[in-house]
Amino acid sequence: MTTKTTTTPPSDTLVEQEKQLAARTAVEQVEQGMCIGLGSGTTAAYAVKALGERVRQGLDVVAVATSRDTLNLAISEGIPMITSSVPLSLDLTIDGADEFDPQLRLIKGGGGDLLHEKIVASATRREIIICDHTKQVEVLGKFKLPIEVIQLAWPLVAAQVRKLGGTPFLRQLKTGTGPFVTDEGNYILDCDFGPIRDPQALACSLEPIPGLVEHGLFIGYASEVILARGNQIEVVRARS
Ligand code: 5RP
Repeated sequence: MTTKTTTTPPSDTLVEQEKQLAARTAVEQVEQGMCIGLGSGTTAAYAVKALGERVRQGLDVVAVATSRDTLNLAISEGIPMITSSVPLSLDLTIDGADEFDPQLRLIKGGGGDLLHEKIVASATRREIIICDHTKQVEVLGKFKLPIEVIQLAWPLVAAQVRKLGGTPFLRQLKTGTGPFVTDEGNYILDCDFGPIRDPQALACSLEPIPGLVEHGLFIGYASEVILARGNQIEVVRARS
């Protein structure tokens, strides 16, 4: 019997390595004196740790977090944080995404932090999205679109989502003890719209729904995507 040996790491390990590589590459773009936005999720957490290393080596920056988890991590890394409000202008934000398409339109909110992430992105001059190879798609929509809703309005918003052709699922805690609640005390509807061929049109249809706080379509925010594939880095810029 022959035993096949391989040097390719198992895919979970590969994805983690890609996340770290993308995060480290993005953090190299941070310069002295910058005001930085820190995204949320597992990929962004690698960037926070890499930034922490640079701060401990003498890099002088201030940062704003997009979630409580990121804030706690950044503080534990010794990164000086602004907590009072989001500054009017940020030099650079490093954040993850659940999907991105060739126009750098994103689905975000898998971690439930889309509201703060969009607020920070809106104030940012350069939004770098860091991704492993699984996040690149031709058409958005395989990942269910997260929509943050006021708690008491969720059935109403869910009904509107159905009218738009989507299938909403109220996000539950992994512990099975009830609905997931965001940092702002809202619920999340994970909405299956199938392939989203016109993200802009869907965004425009969603925005007026009363009780809908924010949706996870990020259009026109990403300046570039730093995509790691194996040990290679690809910088993806929007195809118009
Ligand atoms: C959180 C987000 C995250 O950036 C997104 O879910 C990607 O997370 P991960 O890096 O863990 O795959 O939008 O709301």
